[in-house]
Amino acid sequence: MPVISGLEDVIAAESSICKVDGEKGRLIYRGYDIDDLAEHSTYEEVVYLLWFGQLPVRNELDRLYKELGASRKLPQPVINAMKNFPKEAVPMEVLRTVASMLSMYDADANEKSEEANVRKATRLTAQIPTIVAYWDCIRNDRKLVEPKPEHNTAASFLHLLHSGKEPDEVAVKSLDVALILHAEHELNASTFAARVAAGTETDMHSAVTAAIGTLKGPLHGGANQEVIKMLIEIGELDKVESYIKKMFQDHKKLMGFGHRVYKVQDPRAAHLRKMSKALGEGAGETKWYEMSNKIEQLAKQEKGLNCNVDFYSASVYYMLGIERDLFTPIFAISRISGWCAHIMEQYKNNRLIRPESEYIGKMDLKYVPIDKR
Ligand code: SDX
Repeated sequence: MPVISGLEDVIAAESSICKVDGEKGRLIYRGYDIDDLAEHSTYEEVVYLLWFGQLPVRNELDRLYKELGASRKLPQPVINAMKNFPKEAVPMEVLRTVASMLSMYDADANEKSEEANVRKATRLTAQIPTIVAYWDCIRNDRKLVEPKPEHNTAASFLHLLHSGKEPDEVAVKSLDVALILHAEHELNASTFAARVAAGTETDMHSAVTAAIGTLKGPLHGGANQEVIKMLIEIGELDKVESYIKKMFQDHKKLMGFGHRVYKVQDPRAAHLRKMSKALGEGAGETKWYEMSNKIEQLAKQEKGLNCNVDFYSASVYYMLGIERDLFTPIFAISRISGWCAHIMEQYKNNRLIRPESEYIGKMDLKYVPIDKR
């Protein structure tokens, strides 16, 4: 059998959670188009949809909302440990470590029933935003405040991040839509990592920890941080063209562009582009949007490349006043719901995921004792 580099086009699982149509540029969560969900839904409703396969009725949504609201606090020993982490630890390292640590304080950690997995998924989805916000407070010597159970995920994150300042409505709405857009994307690298881990019948926290470590890479979720780094480095609209052309001449990868599955525009990018423009106009600072727009045109014209979800999310988060190294953790705040949906789906119909490699090393060597080598 030929080796398929990067498992491109390999169908590695059956799933009823999400469809990415790379030819038509469509993204479907459980039968619903992402455009419809981004326009009309909320992140919590999408979490319910991903986990339970259908949109909730009022009391189902209320229950999930309440359970998320009641689960946002972190165990005190975990907060104490975080206070002892080196202040320069990057937020994705902290998130990976603390997500793993949480299992030691979770009464259901090694409990395998479906109900226990839903409880763990709920707690992880509620706690991950708290970890990210608290870490930013701890490293910057800001006060830690208690989560408010009435907040939704977006509001809670911003409230904790800004040490108790009530977030404004536009910021909450923008982040809520960004969370909907990032929640799920079938067998992307981090979700695949989660499913491989779950396939061994290990626990949910272990599978999520594998996923967080995988999301961190710049070819995956780490790209959004690289995008803003580039925008800041370019600095001005009139410098965009020479900078991007030089990047292409030097055969460098343009972060936030290209995709393994989409051959046309990533449908999420359209929403984030619109949001980036609106936030820029609202703040009277359209420079980041305009620069992004120019880069998008050049990438298309020079290389036929389309931007992906990570490109405009960068200027959106920047306009929301969020620090650069929190961009990838925000991706995780949302994607935790998709990871949990896939982990639960994997458990339901599990078979160990264990492909093979094509051996290209030496054969038939004779062992030589160490003093004779
Ligand atoms: C995410 O999989 C998912 O669903 C992921 C995701 C999700 O929601 O989970 O959508 C989120 O991870 C988005 C991707 C974020 N990463 C980046 O923005 C990093 C920059 N992009 C690339 O490195 C790249 O496009 C990947 C990693 C996203 C995809 O890699 P592939 O499918 O292995 O493609 P490739 O690197 O083999 O590229 C194919 C060709 C090459 O040219 P040739 O050698 O054939 O001439 O396209 C070129 C590449 O050089 N190319 C790029 C490019 N992306 C592809 N050239 C310059 N800049 C780029 N960004």
